[in-house]
Amino acid sequence: MKDKRIVILTGAGVSAESGLGTFRDKDGLWTKYDLNDVATPEGFARNPEFVHNFYNQRRQNLVDATPNAAHHALGRLESEFPGDVLVVTQNIDRLHEMGGSKNVLHMHGEMLKSRCDFCQHVIHWEGDLNLAMRCEQCGTAGAMRPHVVWFGEMPFYMDDIQHALDLCDLFLSIGTSGNVYPAAGFVAQVRHRGTAHTVELNLEPSEGSALFHDSVLGPATEVVPSYVDDLLANGW
Ligand code: OAD
Repeated sequence: MKDKRIVILTGAGVSAESGLGTFRDKDGLWTKYDLNDVATPEGFARNPEFVHNFYNQRRQNLVDATPNAAHHALGRLESEFPGDVLVVTQNIDRLHEMGGSKNVLHMHGEMLKSRCDFCQHVIHWEGDLNLAMRCEQCGTAGAMRPHVVWFGEMPFYMDDIQHALDLCDLFLSIGTSGNVYPAAGFVAQVRHRGTAHTVELNLEPSEGSALFHDSVLGPATEVVPSYVDDLLANGW
């Protein structure tokens, strides 16, 4: 297993049992808000104060959240697996890092960072954002925005992710509904290459469920630790 590479795609379902809501489940965020208002550059341009308030509230929930057994299991996998483990997450929380994962790519950005829309300078930011804030680098007022990827924007790290998908031997998809591209297309890409094993671990079958070799259904805090134990003991 020394030369083997694992890529793990995660979504909101992995953080659900840490008290962070998902998007498309019953009571999910997109049942309460129109994503065009709060998760697009056009929505931000129309009403920046409303968008700041939406993310300020989410940021406070996230600051207090703690990792669950699924995050810890993935951290353990990275430290105990003799090969390479990469987590590609759509989540903007920091729970993978708190659970011990070091090799993490946040393709949809990070909530505890803020970015200047003018000069692209990124800072760590745990407080509220508002329109009066100035960029510490270029001094522009009102340009600081959440360092997250909105619909219509390019996800981060796509070159690194493509490279990892091209080389992986095992692709896991955990807690994501498979509705949002490009992440939703990763499994098809890995399957097309034909040499990697693919497994989804989710509460229910995702949109792309038929494309995976195996599907393990159940809450992440239960299925992920037992899958990781089995993987470390027996491989795949
Ligand atoms: P979704 O809300 O679309 O899907 C969450 C998935 O997690 C669903 O398939 C659930 O069945 C599953 N799930 C819920 N609770 C679970 C649990 N306890 N254990 C295991 N699985 C569970 O969230 P994402 O797929 O992450 O992007 O959404 C993808 C993107 O859409 C997000 O990154 C966000 C959103 O709009 C942007 O905002 C750009």
